[in-house]
Amino acid sequence: MPATVVSLKAIEDQHHLSIQSPASGISLQGRLKVPGDKSISHRALMLGAIAQGETQIQGLLLGEDPRSTASCFRAMGAEISELNTELVRVQGIGLGQLLEPTNVLDAGNSGTTLRLMLGILASHPERFFSVTGDESLRSRPMSRVVQPLQQMGAAIWGRKKGSLAPLAIQGKTLKPIHYYSPIASAQVKSCILLAGLMTEGQTTVTEPALSRDHSERMLKAFGAQLTIDPETHSVTVTGSAKLQGQNIVVPGDISSAAFWLVAAAIVPDSELLIENVGVNPTRTGILEALEMMGADVTLENQQEIAGEPVADLRVRYGRLKGCTIAGDLIPRLIDEIPILAVAAVFAEGTTVIRDAAELRVKESDRLAAMASQLNRMGARVTELPDGLEIVGGTPLTGTNVDSYTDHRIAMSLAIAALNATGTTTIYRAEAAAISYPDFVTNLQQLCGDVHP
Ligand code: S3P
Repeated sequence: MPATVVSLKAIEDQHHLSIQSPASGISLQGRLKVPGDKSISHRALMLGAIAQGETQIQGLLLGEDPRSTASCFRAMGAEISELNTELVRVQGIGLGQLLEPTNVLDAGNSGTTLRLMLGILASHPERFFSVTGDESLRSRPMSRVVQPLQQMGAAIWGRKKGSLAPLAIQGKTLKPIHYYSPIASAQVKSCILLAGLMTEGQTTVTEPALSRDHSERMLKAFGAQLTIDPETHSVTVTGSAKLQGQNIVVPGDISSAAFWLVAAAIVPDSELLIENVGVNPTRTGILEALEMMGADVTLENQQEIAGEPVADLRVRYGRLKGCTIAGDLIPRLIDEIPILAVAAVFAEGTTVIRDAAELRVKESDRLAAMASQLNRMGARVTELPDGLEIVGGTPLTGTNVDSYTDHRIAMSLAIAALNATGTTTIYRAEAAAISYPDFVTNLQQLCGDVHP
Protein backbone atom coordinates (compact mmCIF):
# COMPACT_ATOMS: atom_id res chain seq x y z
CA MET A 1 0.00 0.00 0.00
CA PRO A 2 1.39 3.48 -0.80
CA ALA A 3 2.53 5.44 2.23
CA THR A 4 1.63 8.98 3.16
CA VAL A 5 4.87 10.93 2.86
CA VAL A 6 5.60 13.11 5.85
CA SER A 7 8.60 15.42 5.58
CA LEU A 8 10.04 18.33 7.50
CA LYS A 9 11.94 21.15 5.85
CA ALA A 10 13.93 23.48 8.10
CA ILE A 11 14.21 27.10 6.99
CA GLU A 12 16.35 28.88 9.54
CA ASP A 13 14.54 28.20 12.83
CA GLN A 14 11.20 27.45 11.18
CA HIS A 15 10.07 23.98 10.15
CA HIS A 16 7.61 23.44 7.36
CA LEU A 17 5.81 20.10 7.62
CA SER A 18 4.64 18.56 4.34
CA ILE A 19 2.10 15.76 4.24
CA GLN A 20 1.48 14.15 0.89
CA SER A 21 -1.46 11.77 0.87
CA PRO A 22 -1.55 8.99 -1.76
CA ALA A 23 -4.65 8.88 -3.98
CA SER A 24 -5.75 5.50 -2.60
CA GLY A 25 -5.41 6.64 1.02
CA ILE A 26 -3.79 4.96 4.00
CA SER A 27 -5.11 3.55 7.21
CA LEU A 28 -3.62 4.17 10.65
CA GLN A 29 -2.93 1.00 12.62
CA GLY A 30 -1.14 0.06 15.81
CA ARG A 31 -0.53 1.29 19.32
CA LEU A 32 1.27 4.31 20.69
CA LYS A 33 1.93 6.32 23.82
CA VAL A 34 1.52 10.07 23.95
CA PRO A 35 3.76 12.34 26.06
CA GLY A 36 2.99 13.29 29.66
CA ASP A 37 0.11 15.58 30.57
CA LYS A 38 1.14 19.24 30.27
CA SER A 39 -1.08 20.55 33.07
CA ILE A 40 0.07 17.87 35.52
CA SER A 41 3.74 18.34 34.52
CA HIS A 42 3.64 22.08 35.31
CA ARG A 43 1.96 21.50 38.66
CA ALA A 44 4.35 18.71 39.67
CA LEU A 45 7.36 20.97 39.02
CA MET A 46 5.81 23.97 40.80
CA LEU A 47 4.48 22.17 43.88
CA GLY A 48 7.71 20.16 44.07
CA ALA A 49 9.66 23.43 44.09
CA ILE A 50 7.68 25.02 46.94
CA ALA A 51 7.26 21.85 49.04
CA GLN A 52 9.63 20.50 51.65
CA GLY A 53 11.81 17.52 50.76
CA GLU A 54 12.11 15.69 47.49
CA THR A 55 9.47 15.28 44.79
CA GLN A 56 10.02 12.56 42.20
CA ILE A 57 8.28 12.90 38.85
CA GLN A 58 7.88 10.02 36.40
CA GLY A 59 6.59 10.62 32.89
CA LEU A 60 7.14 14.41 32.80
CA LEU A 61 6.32 16.11 29.51
CA LEU A 62 9.56 17.23 27.87
CA GLY A 63 7.83 19.96 25.84
CA GLU A 64 8.94 23.58 25.74
CA ASP A 65 6.25 24.69 28.23
CA PRO A 66 7.33 22.57 31.24
CA ARG A 67 10.94 23.51 30.40
CA SER A 68 9.92 27.15 30.95
CA THR A 69 8.41 26.26 34.33
CA ALA A 70 11.54 24.36 35.38
CA SER A 71 13.87 27.19 34.40
CA CYS A 72 11.79 29.82 36.27
CA PHE A 73 11.79 27.80 39.50
CA ARG A 74 15.49 26.92 39.17
CA ALA A 75 16.13 30.67 38.99
CA MET A 76 14.39 30.99 42.38
CA GLY A 77 16.49 28.34 44.11
CA ALA A 78 14.67 25.05 43.52
CA GLU A 79 17.00 22.22 42.53
CA ILE A 80 15.45 20.39 39.61
CA SER A 81 17.45 17.59 37.98
CA GLU A 82 17.88 17.44 34.22
CA LEU A 83 14.44 16.97 32.67
CA ASN A 84 13.70 13.48 31.33
CA THR A 85 10.73 11.18 31.10
CA GLU A 86 12.16 8.52 33.45
CA LEU A 87 12.67 10.30 36.75
CA VAL A 88 13.01 13.99 37.57
CA ARG A 89 14.01 14.91 41.13
CA VAL A 90 12.94 18.24 42.59
CA GLN A 91 14.49 19.36 45.87
CA GLY A 92 11.82 21.65 47.29
CA ILE A 93 12.79 24.92 48.90
CA GLY A 94 9.79 25.09 51.28
CA LEU A 95 6.63 27.19 51.28
CA GLY A 96 7.38 30.92 51.15
CA GLN A 97 11.12 30.32 50.76
CA LEU A 98 11.69 31.04 47.06
CA LEU A 99 14.70 33.29 46.44
CA GLU A 100 14.46 36.61 44.66
CA PRO A 101 15.66 35.88 41.10
CA THR A 102 18.47 38.05 39.76
CA ASN A 103 16.95 38.24 36.30
CA VAL A 104 13.59 38.37 34.52
CA LEU A 105 11.62 35.09 34.73
CA ASP A 106 10.72 33.99 31.21
CA ALA A 107 7.58 31.83 30.83
CA GLY A 108 8.14 31.45 27.06
CA ASN A 109 4.88 30.48 25.34
CA SER A 110 3.28 29.10 28.49
CA GLY A 111 0.17 30.74 29.96
CA THR A 112 0.01 28.10 32.69
CA THR A 113 3.58 28.87 33.82
CA LEU A 114 2.96 32.60 34.00
CA ARG A 115 -0.53 32.63 35.51
CA LEU A 116 0.06 29.96 38.15
CA MET A 117 3.47 31.36 39.05
CA LEU A 118 1.98 34.84 39.60
CA GLY A 119 -0.04 33.50 42.56
CA ILE A 120 3.12 32.09 44.11
CA LEU A 121 5.23 35.21 43.51
CA ALA A 122 2.64 37.76 44.68
CA SER A 123 2.46 35.98 48.06
CA HIS A 124 6.25 35.98 48.72
CA PRO A 125 6.80 39.05 50.94
CA GLU A 126 9.90 41.18 50.52
CA ARG A 127 10.92 39.78 47.14
CA PHE A 128 10.73 41.55 43.83
CA PHE A 129 10.06 39.64 40.63
CA SER A 130 9.76 40.51 36.96
CA VAL A 131 8.16 38.10 34.52
CA THR A 132 7.72 37.97 30.77
CA GLY A 133 7.03 35.59 27.89
CA ASP A 134 7.23 35.27 24.12
CA GLU A 135 5.34 37.48 21.67
CA SER A 136 2.15 35.38 21.95
CA LEU A 137 2.17 35.30 25.76
CA ARG A 138 2.88 39.03 25.98
CA SER A 139 -0.39 39.66 24.12
CA ARG A 140 -2.56 37.36 26.29
CA PRO A 141 -4.77 38.76 29.08
CA MET A 142 -3.27 38.66 32.54
CA SER A 143 -5.93 40.82 34.23
CA ARG A 144 -7.95 37.66 34.92
CA VAL A 145 -5.33 36.73 37.53
CA VAL A 146 -3.88 40.16 38.33
CA GLN A 147 -7.26 41.60 39.41
CA PRO A 148 -8.10 38.93 42.01
CA LEU A 149 -4.51 39.00 43.26
CA GLN A 150 -4.81 42.78 43.63
CA GLN A 151 -8.02 42.22 45.63
CA MET A 152 -5.88 40.09 47.94
CA GLY A 153 -3.52 43.06 48.27
CA ALA A 154 -0.91 42.11 45.68
CA ALA A 155 1.33 44.75 44.10
CA ILE A 156 1.62 44.06 40.37
CA TRP A 157 2.45 46.46 37.54
CA GLY A 158 2.42 46.09 33.77
CA ARG A 159 1.13 47.57 30.53
CA LYS A 160 -2.62 48.29 30.36
CA LYS A 161 -3.05 48.42 34.15
CA GLY A 162 -1.15 45.21 34.70
CA SER A 163 -3.07 43.21 32.13
CA LEU A 164 -0.15 42.48 29.79
CA ALA A 165 3.30 40.98 30.48
CA PRO A 166 6.04 41.96 31.12
CA LEU A 167 4.88 42.34 34.71
CA ALA A 168 6.64 43.51 37.86
CA ILE A 169 5.59 42.01 41.20
CA GLN A 170 6.45 43.20 44.69
CA GLY A 171 5.68 40.20 46.91
CA LYS A 172 3.52 40.88 49.98
CA THR A 173 1.58 39.29 52.79
CA LEU A 174 -1.85 38.91 51.24
CA LYS A 175 -5.34 38.75 52.71
CA PRO A 176 -7.82 35.96 51.94
CA ILE A 177 -10.78 36.57 49.60
CA HIS A 178 -13.73 34.71 48.15
CA TYR A 179 -13.34 35.15 44.42
CA TYR A 180 -16.25 34.53 42.05
CA SER A 181 -14.49 33.97 38.74
CA PRO A 182 -16.46 35.10 35.68
CA ILE A 183 -14.77 32.37 33.60
CA ALA A 184 -14.27 28.64 34.14
CA SER A 185 -10.48 28.70 34.04
CA ALA A 186 -8.16 26.29 35.82
CA GLN A 187 -5.34 28.81 35.46
CA VAL A 188 -7.33 31.48 37.34
CA LYS A 189 -8.51 29.01 39.97
CA SER A 190 -5.02 27.57 40.50
CA CYS A 191 -3.34 30.99 40.67
CA ILE A 192 -5.63 32.12 43.50
CA LEU A 193 -5.35 28.82 45.37
CA LEU A 194 -1.56 29.02 45.18
CA ALA A 195 -1.65 32.59 46.53
CA GLY A 196 -4.06 31.36 49.23
CA LEU A 197 -1.55 28.71 50.33
CA MET A 198 0.69 31.45 51.70
CA THR A 199 -2.15 33.60 53.06
CA GLU A 200 -3.48 33.24 56.56
CA GLY A 201 -7.19 32.37 56.64
CA GLN A 202 -9.44 30.82 54.02
CA THR A 203 -9.25 31.72 50.34
CA THR A 204 -12.12 30.49 48.17
CA VAL A 205 -12.58 30.40 44.40
CA THR A 206 -16.01 29.79 42.88
CA GLU A 207 -16.17 29.19 39.14
CA PRO A 208 -19.22 29.18 36.83
CA ALA A 209 -18.50 25.63 35.62
CA LEU A 210 -15.95 23.04 36.64
CA SER A 211 -12.53 23.46 35.03
CA ARG A 212 -9.74 20.88 35.23
CA ASP A 213 -9.05 19.90 38.85
CA HIS A 214 -5.40 18.75 38.72
CA SER A 215 -4.34 21.49 41.16
CA GLU A 216 -6.90 20.39 43.72
CA ARG A 217 -5.86 16.74 43.47
CA MET A 218 -2.17 17.48 43.67
CA LEU A 219 -2.42 20.12 46.42
CA LYS A 220 -4.30 17.60 48.58
CA ALA A 221 -1.66 14.95 47.91
CA PHE A 222 1.08 17.41 48.99
CA GLY A 223 -0.80 18.01 52.27
CA ALA A 224 -2.57 21.33 51.66
CA GLN A 225 -5.82 21.90 53.56
CA LEU A 226 -8.42 22.02 50.84
CA THR A 227 -12.19 21.71 50.84
CA ILE A 228 -14.24 21.30 47.69
CA ASP A 229 -17.94 22.04 47.23
CA PRO A 230 -18.91 20.29 43.98
CA GLU A 231 -22.44 21.78 44.04
CA THR A 232 -21.20 25.36 43.73
CA HIS A 233 -17.89 24.63 41.96
CA SER A 234 -16.02 26.17 44.90
CA VAL A 235 -12.62 25.32 46.34
CA THR A 236 -11.28 26.68 49.63
CA VAL A 237 -7.67 26.56 50.72
CA THR A 238 -6.57 27.28 54.29
CA GLY A 239 -3.31 29.17 54.28
CA SER A 240 0.04 28.58 55.87
CA ALA A 241 -0.03 24.77 55.78
CA LYS A 242 3.17 22.90 54.94
CA LEU A 243 3.57 21.04 51.67
CA GLN A 244 5.48 17.76 51.61
CA GLY A 245 7.24 16.46 48.48
CA GLN A 246 5.50 13.55 46.74
CA ASN A 247 6.01 10.89 44.06
CA ILE A 248 4.09 11.92 40.95
CA VAL A 249 3.33 9.69 37.98
CA VAL A 250 2.25 11.81 35.01
CA PRO A 251 -0.25 10.06 32.71
CA GLY A 252 -0.31 10.60 28.92
CA ASP A 253 -1.96 13.86 27.90
CA ILE A 254 -5.53 13.41 26.61
CA SER A 255 -5.08 16.70 24.75
CA SER A 256 -2.26 15.05 22.75
CA ALA A 257 -4.16 11.76 22.43
CA ALA A 258 -7.01 13.78 20.89
CA PHE A 259 -5.07 14.17 17.61
CA TRP A 260 -4.86 10.40 17.17
CA LEU A 261 -8.44 9.85 18.33
CA VAL A 262 -9.65 12.10 15.55
CA ALA A 263 -7.08 10.83 13.03
CA ALA A 264 -8.25 7.22 13.42
CA ALA A 265 -11.91 8.27 13.51
CA ILE A 266 -11.68 10.04 10.12
CA VAL A 267 -9.14 7.97 8.15
CA PRO A 268 -10.95 4.90 6.69
CA ASP A 269 -10.09 1.43 8.07
CA SER A 270 -7.97 2.80 10.93
CA GLU A 271 -7.68 1.34 14.42
CA LEU A 272 -5.36 2.71 17.11
CA LEU A 273 -4.74 1.89 20.75
CA ILE A 274 -3.42 4.89 22.68
CA GLU A 275 -1.93 3.63 25.92
CA ASN A 276 -1.84 5.17 29.38
CA VAL A 277 -3.93 8.31 28.82
CA GLY A 278 -5.18 10.50 31.69
CA VAL A 279 -8.99 10.32 31.80
CA ASN A 280 -9.71 12.76 34.61
CA PRO A 281 -13.45 13.56 34.18
CA THR A 282 -12.65 17.30 34.02
CA ARG A 283 -10.68 16.57 30.82
CA THR A 284 -12.76 13.93 29.01
CA GLY A 285 -15.13 16.29 27.18
CA ILE A 286 -13.40 15.21 23.94
CA LEU A 287 -14.62 11.63 24.50
CA GLU A 288 -18.19 12.86 25.05
CA ALA A 289 -18.06 15.05 21.95
CA LEU A 290 -16.70 12.20 19.82
CA GLU A 291 -19.42 9.92 21.19
CA MET A 292 -22.07 12.48 20.17
CA MET A 293 -20.52 12.45 16.71
CA GLY A 294 -20.88 8.66 16.59
CA ALA A 295 -17.15 7.82 16.86
CA ASP A 296 -16.11 4.36 18.02
CA VAL A 297 -13.90 4.98 21.09
CA THR A 298 -13.61 2.56 24.02
CA LEU A 299 -11.73 2.76 27.32
CA GLU A 300 -9.69 -0.28 28.35
CA ASN A 301 -7.54 -1.14 31.35
CA GLN A 302 -8.94 1.68 33.52
CA GLN A 303 -7.06 2.33 36.76
CA GLU A 304 -6.11 5.10 39.15
CA ILE A 305 -2.41 6.00 39.29
CA ALA A 306 -1.09 8.56 41.81
CA GLY A 307 -4.51 10.18 42.23
CA GLU A 308 -5.41 10.50 38.55
CA PRO A 309 -7.60 8.10 36.50
CA VAL A 310 -5.81 6.50 33.53
CA ALA A 311 -6.95 4.23 30.66
CA ASP A 312 -5.97 2.91 27.24
CA LEU A 313 -8.13 4.40 24.49
CA ARG A 314 -9.08 2.26 21.50
CA VAL A 315 -10.45 4.12 18.49
CA ARG A 316 -11.74 2.72 15.21
CA TYR A 317 -12.75 4.45 12.02
CA GLY A 318 -16.48 5.08 11.63
CA ARG A 319 -18.80 7.53 9.96
CA LEU A 320 -19.20 10.72 11.99
CA LYS A 321 -22.18 13.02 12.20
CA GLY A 322 -22.37 16.69 13.17
CA CYS A 323 -23.39 17.76 16.68
CA THR A 324 -23.60 20.80 18.98
CA ILE A 325 -20.78 21.40 21.46
CA ALA A 326 -21.55 24.13 24.02
CA GLY A 327 -22.17 25.04 27.66
CA ASP A 328 -20.48 23.28 30.58
CA LEU A 329 -18.84 20.81 28.20
CA ILE A 330 -16.58 23.56 26.80
CA PRO A 331 -14.16 23.86 29.78
CA ARG A 332 -13.73 20.07 29.72
CA LEU A 333 -12.53 20.08 26.09
CA ILE A 334 -11.21 23.62 25.76
CA ASP A 335 -7.88 22.61 24.19
CA GLU A 336 -9.48 20.01 21.89
CA ILE A 337 -11.73 22.37 19.93
CA PRO A 338 -9.23 22.83 17.04
CA ILE A 339 -8.99 19.06 16.47
CA LEU A 340 -12.76 18.64 16.97
CA ALA A 341 -13.20 21.18 14.18
CA VAL A 342 -11.20 18.81 11.96
CA ALA A 343 -13.47 15.89 12.95
CA ALA A 344 -16.49 18.07 12.10
CA VAL A 345 -15.15 18.83 8.61
CA PHE A 346 -15.29 15.09 7.85
CA ALA A 347 -18.65 14.51 9.58
CA GLU A 348 -22.02 14.37 7.87
CA GLY A 349 -24.15 17.44 8.58
CA THR A 350 -23.43 20.59 10.56
CA THR A 351 -21.46 20.94 13.78
CA VAL A 352 -21.97 24.03 15.93
CA ILE A 353 -19.45 25.02 18.60
CA ARG A 354 -20.58 27.81 20.97
CA ASP A 355 -19.59 29.36 24.32
CA ALA A 356 -15.94 29.07 23.31
CA ALA A 357 -14.87 32.73 23.08
CA GLU A 358 -11.93 31.80 25.33
CA LEU A 359 -10.32 30.29 22.24
CA ARG A 360 -9.67 33.79 20.96
CA VAL A 361 -7.12 34.38 23.74
CA LYS A 362 -5.19 31.11 23.63
CA GLU A 363 -1.71 30.77 22.07
CA SER A 364 -3.41 32.19 18.94
CA ASP A 365 -6.99 33.17 18.12
CA ARG A 366 -7.88 29.53 17.57
CA LEU A 367 -11.36 30.21 16.14
CA ALA A 368 -9.96 32.52 13.45
CA ALA A 369 -6.96 30.27 12.79
CA MET A 370 -8.95 27.05 12.32
CA ALA A 371 -11.68 28.72 10.23
CA SER A 372 -9.24 30.43 7.87
CA GLN A 373 -6.82 27.53 7.46
CA LEU A 374 -9.45 24.78 7.05
CA ASN A 375 -11.28 27.00 4.53
CA ARG A 376 -8.02 27.35 2.57
CA MET A 377 -8.14 23.55 2.23
CA GLY A 378 -11.75 23.69 0.93
CA ALA A 379 -13.76 23.26 4.15
CA ARG A 380 -16.95 25.19 4.94
CA VAL A 381 -16.30 26.77 8.31
CA THR A 382 -18.00 29.97 9.52
CA GLU A 383 -16.58 31.90 12.44
CA LEU A 384 -19.09 32.84 15.15
CA PRO A 385 -18.22 35.37 17.87
CA ASP A 386 -17.91 32.52 20.39
CA GLY A 387 -17.45 29.46 18.22
CA LEU A 388 -17.57 27.85 14.80
CA GLU A 389 -20.22 26.49 12.46
CA ILE A 390 -18.86 23.69 10.31
CA VAL A 391 -20.72 22.14 7.41
CA GLY A 392 -19.14 18.73 7.01
CA GLY A 393 -18.67 16.46 4.04
CA THR A 394 -16.72 18.71 1.65
CA PRO A 395 -13.48 17.01 0.53
CA LEU A 396 -10.26 18.82 1.43
CA THR A 397 -7.42 19.62 -0.96
CA GLY A 398 -3.83 20.03 0.20
CA THR A 399 -2.37 23.53 0.11
CA ASN A 400 -0.06 25.78 2.17
CA VAL A 401 -1.41 26.57 5.64
CA ASP A 402 -0.02 28.28 8.72
CA SER A 403 0.17 27.19 12.38
CA TYR A 404 0.21 30.79 13.66
CA THR A 405 3.02 29.36 15.86
CA ASP A 406 0.30 27.62 17.88
CA HIS A 407 1.08 23.98 18.72
CA ARG A 408 -2.51 22.78 18.64
CA ILE A 409 -3.23 24.49 15.31
CA ALA A 410 -0.09 22.90 13.76
CA MET A 411 -1.08 19.39 14.85
CA SER A 412 -4.78 19.78 14.00
CA LEU A 413 -3.91 20.86 10.45
CA ALA A 414 -1.53 17.90 10.12
CA ILE A 415 -4.39 15.52 10.94
CA ALA A 416 -6.69 17.30 8.46
CA ALA A 417 -3.94 16.84 5.85
CA LEU A 418 -4.07 13.03 6.28
CA ASN A 419 -7.53 13.09 4.70
CA ALA A 420 -6.84 15.77 2.07
CA THR A 421 -5.86 14.98 -1.50
CA GLY A 422 -2.43 16.18 -2.63
CA THR A 423 0.20 17.87 -0.50
CA THR A 424 -0.45 20.07 2.53
CA THR A 425 2.45 22.14 3.85
CA ILE A 426 2.10 23.51 7.38
CA TYR A 427 4.30 26.53 7.99
CA ARG A 428 5.91 27.01 11.39
CA ALA A 429 5.05 23.44 12.44
CA GLU A 430 7.92 23.49 14.98
CA ALA A 431 5.29 24.91 17.37
CA ALA A 432 4.19 21.28 18.01
CA ALA A 433 7.21 20.94 20.35
CA ILE A 434 5.42 23.11 22.94
CA SER A 435 3.33 20.13 24.03
CA TYR A 436 4.30 17.20 21.78
CA PRO A 437 7.97 17.12 20.72
CA ASP A 438 7.66 13.68 19.01
CA PHE A 439 4.49 14.48 17.09
CA VAL A 440 6.12 14.37 13.63
CA THR A 441 8.02 11.15 14.46
CA ASN A 442 4.80 9.49 15.67
CA LEU A 443 2.99 10.71 12.54
CA GLN A 444 5.71 9.25 10.31
CA GLN A 445 5.60 5.93 12.18
CA LEU A 446 1.81 5.68 11.92
CA CYS A 447 1.87 6.59 8.25
CA GLY A 448 4.41 3.83 7.53
CA ASP A 449 6.80 6.54 6.35
CA VAL A 450 10.07 6.12 8.18
CA HIS A 451 12.09 8.75 6.30
CA PRO A 452 13.10 11.75 8.41
C1 S3P B 1 -4.62 24.86 31.69
C2 S3P B 1 -5.85 25.45 31.69
C3 S3P B 1 -6.56 25.84 30.46
C4 S3P B 1 -5.95 25.21 29.22
C5 S3P B 1 -4.45 25.29 29.22
C6 S3P B 1 -3.89 24.57 30.45
C7 S3P B 1 -4.01 24.51 32.98
O1 S3P B 1 -6.49 27.25 30.32
O2 S3P B 1 -6.46 25.81 28.06
O3 S3P B 1 -3.91 24.70 28.07
O4 S3P B 1 -3.03 23.72 33.00
O5 S3P B 1 -4.48 25.00 34.01
P1 S3P B 1 -7.58 28.22 31.01
O6 S3P B 1 -7.45 28.10 32.46
O7 S3P B 1 -7.19 29.59 30.52
O8 S3P B 1 -8.90 27.76 30.49
